[in-house]
Amino acid sequence: MSKVTVQAPANIAFIKYWGNTDDNLPLNNSISMTLDNCLTTTTVAFTDESYDTIEIQNQHGTYEELKRTSIKGSKAYEQIKRIRELAGSEKRVMVKSVNSFPANAGIASSASGFCALTAALLLVYGLKNQFEDKKELSKLVRMSGSGSAARSVMGGFVELIGGDAHHVSYAVQLADEKHWGLCDVIAIISSDSKKTPSSEGHRSAHSSPYFETRLHEMTKRIESTRKAIERKNIEKLGESIEQDTISMHAVMMTSNPPLYYWEPGTLDVIKHIISWREKDSLQAYFSIDAGANVHVICEKKDAQEIAKRLSTVSSVQSTIVNHPAKGVHEIENHLF
Ligand code: PMV
Repeated sequence: MSKVTVQAPANIAFIKYWGNTDDNLPLNNSISMTLDNCLTTTTVAFTDESYDTIEIQNQHGTYEELKRTSIKGSKAYEQIKRIRELAGSEKRVMVKSVNSFPANAGIASSASGFCALTAALLLVYGLKNQFEDKKELSKLVRMSGSGSAARSVMGGFVELIGGDAHHVSYAVQLADEKHWGLCDVIAIISSDSKKTPSSEGHRSAHSSPYFETRLHEMTKRIESTRKAIERKNIEKLGESIEQDTISMHAVMMTSNPPLYYWEPGTLDVIKHIISWREKDSLQAYFSIDAGANVHVICEKKDAQEIAKRLSTVSSVQSTIVNHPAKGVHEIENHLF
């Protein structure tokens, strides 16, 4: 096969991965939901050139080469080398990629991006078995350096097992995309690129005095999150989601150097969500990744009302409503 295109969803972590080992292995388990309106489409084809190229579409619709010297670029070109070696091939590739949402703004573009890249490479290099074995695929995706990307391999609700060895850290599907009509209404506060990439944050997490406490208290939270998903209990799930977000940002803000991903608008949205819950019994819960945007988790029946209310908050530029998506899969329409 000389040209392959795949589509991978981003995901929102209900329980977040923050902090890794020297080998980029996640130190804690994380749990997420895949997002059907935040997708990366990637086409990979063999080229006669003696080098690989990766181009990503920017917000103006034109393709820009991903710089080898950037953090994302070095990881991506390294991943091409890794998969090529695995296939025992010499062939170089041309990669083009398009995101359906703003990249680097706390919507886990690295998750969908690295998942799509790895899956497309495996298929183009003829490693179909590794693509189809989702546990193996999740390990290979994780090796790209983006742990969250490993959770985009499977649809619906997914847990990434953390650990200190390659063979113990992989993704497991907790429930598929049809299990629960949950929504993630993303309130876009800012589409600017984040200043500190998560890879740096994972390394400095250990310097926070609260990091060990977070790891310790997570065991119970993971257990109750699994149960809440299984029983479709939005209140219990929401409680865990908010606790975990605050716990991760407390670690970020108390690390050395400290990381402040929030903007004033982030707190503004948090306050609105709490007041809608208290005053109007609207079951909405906030989650924030390594960026300023707020993911509002709710049931499908409340999603339109929440999107409507968010659009009246002055710090919210726009909203994206997401339902659980299927995991990474091949599609017919190539980007070039
Ligand atoms: O997998 P990375 O390196 O992109 O880090 C993910 C970090 C968070 O998005 C903040 C949390 C998570 O588990 O998705």
